Amino acid sequence: MFQIESRPATTDKATLYEALAADLRALLHGERDLIANAANMASLVYHTLPDVNWVGFYLLKQGEQERELVLGPFHGKPACVRIAVGKGVCGTAAARRESVLVPDVEAFPGHMACDTASRSELVVPILQNGELIGVLDMDSPSLARFDERDREGCEALVRIFVDAL
Ligand code: SME
Repeated sequence: MFQIESRPATTDKATLYEALAADLRALLHGERDLIANAANMASLVYHTLPDVNWVGFYLLKQGEQERELVLGPFHGKPACVRIAVGKGVCGTAAARRESVLVPDVEAFPGHMACDTASRSELVVPILQNGELIGVLDMDSPSLARFDERDREGCEALVRIFVDAL
């Protein structure tokens, strides 16, 4: 039985992301279902990373006109359901196909406030065989909560997620 509580308590980001990557591999092992794995990953990351108020997925789907990001499994308060590619932090990461680090959401033009507590944000695109399938979004109630170590750590987590599919 997988237990999140088995992790060593640490404030060092390199150690934290190494432990988180090992936990995620164990958690997803033997399961390929995207929704099940996304749900478990959102829970694991939400309950492991300190100082976050929202962690979840937006998945790329066909809308009435064009493809858009649609809310997927998450932990945190209820959130915006549909985000156009190119809009907000999530849509920007999707359009650029690269991670977007936002130290202050109020300074990001077009930021979409789902939880008013959110002050900083990190969005990592999810690519499978070169195709965008969605994004992983993390919000914090603290300004500048995420840095390059978080970006690298979360990009590694997303690779583990994609490898499991
Ligand atoms: N802030 C995001 C929207 C999603 S919520 O943070 C959960 C954005 O600007 O794309």
